Amino acid sequence: MSHSFQDFTECARAAAPESALVLGSGLSGATDHLRVLASIAYADIPGLVPPTVAGHRGRLDLCESVSGPALVAHGRVHFYEGHSIDRVTRLINLFAEFGAKRLLLTNAAGGLNPSLEPGDLMVIDRHWKLLNGEDWKRLGEPTRCYSAAGLDTFRRLSARFGGYAALTGPCYETPAEIRALAAYGVDAVGMSTAVEAEAAVELGLDVLAISCITNKAAGLSANPLSHAEVEINAQLGIARLRTMIDTAFA
Ligand code: HPA
Repeated sequence: MSHSFQDFTECARAAAPESALVLGSGLSGATDHLRVLASIAYADIPGLVPPTVAGHRGRLDLCESVSGPALVAHGRVHFYEGHSIDRVTRLINLFAEFGAKRLLLTNAAGGLNPSLEPGDLMVIDRHWKLLNGEDWKRLGEPTRCYSAAGLDTFRRLSARFGGYAALTGPCYETPAEIRALAAYGVDAVGMSTAVEAEAAVELGLDVLAISCITNKAAGLSANPLSHAEVEINAQLGIARLRTMIDTAFA
């Protein structure tokens, strides 16, 4: 059931979804419990392209969530795939065009904080935007990126919080880079989310973000890093992510 852009737009406008969600690497299964009302392939969305990274389905669904209709994006495009800021933030703009008021971003990340194990979830309460991108000034400079009320809700659930550094990628970090980031106070590292979060704040959305720790960051375990490991370990966090999504949307 894949709609044309025009049909999907009509469905979305009629449903008026208030919530939007982006599911990162290996995390697509987190909303398999939600009923899908309409669906479109990224290839059919003007200004977007299908993701090239394994574990990203490349589909935008309109779903029935616990609190009503929600937009669920399965996968994202990254700077390291060679895309412009407009393309990386295309989904965010679309969410705003469809009237979404709140956004939950998710990603797979490497853990620097020694207490973070594969499968753990970390609510992002601050980020470092360490990617090389064009035209950052259009993102604005949000001093408070993540929704204070949303963070409080997660605090009541005793969720774990931490700082996320977004690097350009696509290769993983060196152990020396990880030691430097740890000295800054970075808890988890990845290649997305920070720019999308800032773009969404600029558009007036309430933003929350959750990292699923899929591996210990470079040099912190004996295992070599691989995307296959990232995808497999993302499954360890899916059940808890599902609960947190329902909480964020409630
Ligand atoms: N580094 C960067 N991005 C990642 C990692 C990592 O260790 N794990 C999952 N995404």
